[in-house]
Amino acid sequence: MLRKLSRPLLCIPFIAAALIPFALAANAQSTPDPAPALRDLAEQNHIHIGAAVYSDHLLDPQFNQVLSREFNMLTPENEAKFCWLQPNEGKFDFSKFDQLVAFAQANNMEIHGHNLVWHQCLPDWVAQGKFTRDQALQVLHDHIFTVLGRYRGRVAIWDVVNEAMSDSGSGLRDTPWRDMIGDDYVEMAFRFAHEADPDALLFYNDYSGEAMTGKANAIYDMVQDFVKRGVPINGVGLQSHFTLGGVNEASISQNIKRLGALGLQVQITEMDDRFDGAPTPAILQEQANDYAQLMQACLENSNCTAFITWGVSDNYTWLRGTNLGFFKNPLVEPLLFDDHYQPKPAYQALVDVLTKHAG
Ligand code: XIL
Repeated sequence: MLRKLSRPLLCIPFIAAALIPFALAANAQSTPDPAPALRDLAEQNHIHIGAAVYSDHLLDPQFNQVLSREFNMLTPENEAKFCWLQPNEGKFDFSKFDQLVAFAQANNMEIHGHNLVWHQCLPDWVAQGKFTRDQALQVLHDHIFTVLGRYRGRVAIWDVVNEAMSDSGSGLRDTPWRDMIGDDYVEMAFRFAHEADPDALLFYNDYSGEAMTGKANAIYDMVQDFVKRGVPINGVGLQSHFTLGGVNEASISQNIKRLGALGLQVQITEMDDRFDGAPTPAILQEQANDYAQLMQACLENSNCTAFITWGVSDNYTWLRGTNLGFFKNPLVEPLLFDDHYQPKPAYQALVDVLTKHAG
């Protein structure tokens, strides 16, 4: 039986550290109790709250402070992807991911590793490689064994395969891995990962499969088949890159529930909420409602174990990036903290939902 990341998250050193300020505060009567951070409220609800982090942003002290105060899980935004870890055949570069791992450990944060197999961020030596099936399986095996071997015991969860399903849900998308290995590349990646680190929780991660869509059905069918045949999988990541007003709580909750009935965990892995043009108070309020609905759908299901946002503060969101022709908006503010690290209505909405649910 694979180890499950049980919803109760009780980390003794963290609790001890958390009690110290209260012990001190008892003597200094004028110091008001600080408002609980998201990570405290998440812990009361037995879930993790996480953020994707780009290692360069750790140099920004304000960013650093908000990240460690508010979140107890960290996802490397890019640093654990194939093209960062093994840019040349057999030559690994762990330096950037190591920085994130060290930060997470120093701040009692779990790490949600992202990702081992994806059709993007593939170095040319793989994407253009003319490998036979056996050679490609060897490349996949060696990458997974090297990475999971190094981070064994430090990275609790891995997105083993990312975005393998076609948007229509009609089958697997065409990728270099599928071309070289065949449709079973997905399950082979899970089998290698389980061999490499039997304690890691292994996730399949994708977008547009949050609610009960055709793509969600295709993902469900795939993971159900894996469970039936004993392919080692522990959970499904719902990316959750939403557009304003796009969160359907009831439908997402139904999807999380049916995955739970298969014995699988679910994590909200990449939440952000975009909109066109400049923000207004009404837009930010609607965004807060989207965040609240999604958190609600998670809390309603005991198999939903984490809620991760794709970034900490709006200033660094990928959605303002220059390489995102399809939904790039330089004015977008999709996250919980604004450009100046101030909490937004969406932050308050999560505080309210988590507080109410814990009570
Ligand atoms: C994105 C990063 O945020 C960008 O910095 C990078 O340029 C491209 O990848 N789904 C995923 C993530 O699974 O890995 C993507 O991250 C966002 C969409």
